[in-house]
Amino acid sequence: MAILITGGAGYIGSHTAVMLLEKGFDIVICDNFSNSSNDVIEKIKKITGKDFNFYNIDLRSKSDIDHLFQTEKIDSVIHFAALKAVGQSVQKPLYYYENNLCSTINLLHIMDNHHVKNLIFSSSATVYGDKATPPYKEDSETSATNPYGQSKIMIERMLEDLHHSDDSWNIISLRYFNPLGAHSSGLIGENPQGIPNNLLPYIAQVASGKLPELKVFGNDYDTPDGTGIRDYIHVCDLAEGHIKALMKLKGSPGYDVYNLGTGKGASVLELISAFENANGIKIPYTITERRPGDTPLSIADVEKAEKELDFKATRTLQDMCRDTWNFQKSL
Ligand code: NAD
Ligand code: UD1
Repeated sequence: MAILITGGAGYIGSHTAVMLLEKGFDIVICDNFSNSSNDVIEKIKKITGKDFNFYNIDLRSKSDIDHLFQTEKIDSVIHFAALKAVGQSVQKPLYYYENNLCSTINLLHIMDNHHVKNLIFSSSATVYGDKATPPYKEDSETSATNPYGQSKIMIERMLEDLHHSDDSWNIISLRYFNPLGAHSSGLIGENPQGIPNNLLPYIAQVASGKLPELKVFGNDYDTPDGTGIRDYIHVCDLAEGHIKALMKLKGSPGYDVYNLGTGKGASVLELISAFENANGIKIPYTITERRPGDTPLSIADVEKAEKELDFKATRTLQDMCRDTWNFQKSL
């Protein structure tokens, strides 16, 4: 029996695939490469020395998903596939709702038809929106400030409803905080198309000379140095969180939600310093206007994941900066 990884050629999916293979799980990956490429599949095989089946399918096609489930023996699904650019979701809401919601509904129908009812869903800290007070607990109020975030809230609700209607479904929604870093091999990592929206990918491109300088979006927040604070978590810690969640699904079924973060925050200026110290490269920056939609502070309450999943992130900010740069240099 295999674990299906949707969106497994993407940033978090590829790291989770490597870890699952290294721990001896059988996997199948599907992806439509809308935000990734085929060489990632080859790199996962190279890192692990293991083989697996890959399907180049779009989850908006129910018949393609059905074909996969008819061909493979799937036991559980980790559902990463989604579009994730916040700004683009505001410009193209229907595209986002169609891709993220329809794909998930199709997948759930086919899983149901094939009696596969174990699911881990990639949710996001973005569901805490702008109403809850950090550190965010899993039962903090959720709200969305954009269609991307709305799609995550809607899917979480749908999964909860599904479990209520049929308690043989075992589902965990994992709310990731800010993933950073890359695999230590330098073969896989985050490689955004165009100009990066997120902080560390932007810093890495400044370090490589692709971009001239970083713009720090505001230094007048109510935080110790005035810049925004986030809970950054190494992508390999996140991958481990998925394995812990899989164990929980098997041992104690039901529907549940967990934060995956470190419980500690770092400011924009602290991340710049960590990158400079880890890699010995100076990052030029200027302070500019706040970015619309940004919150001053986002930090996870990690108690529930620690207690119930036995999950604790161990990698440091320095590790994240070193591994990101190691990957960036290989591009
Ligand atoms: P990613 O874009 O690198 O990976 C997503 C993958 O899904 C891509 O390879 C893409 O080609 C694929 N995909 C998208 N739509 C598809 C479809 N209709 N059919 C088949 N494949 C499709 O993103 P990521 O950073 O690895 O994120 C994975 C998941 O985690 C997403 O659901 C994202 O919303 C969520 N998440 C990401 C972050 C983050 O900062 N990276 C934070 C919180 C939550
Ligand atoms: C962004 C998304 C969020 C998503 C998350 C992880 C927005 C408004 N929010 O959040 O929905 O879940 O990524 O993918 O896009 N910063 C700079 N200069 C830059 C880039 C960022 O100063 O060039 C600052 C930001 O103001 C913020 C911090 O760095 O304080 C982190 O930004 P980013 O990496 O984009 O993550 P989030 O803001 O958490």
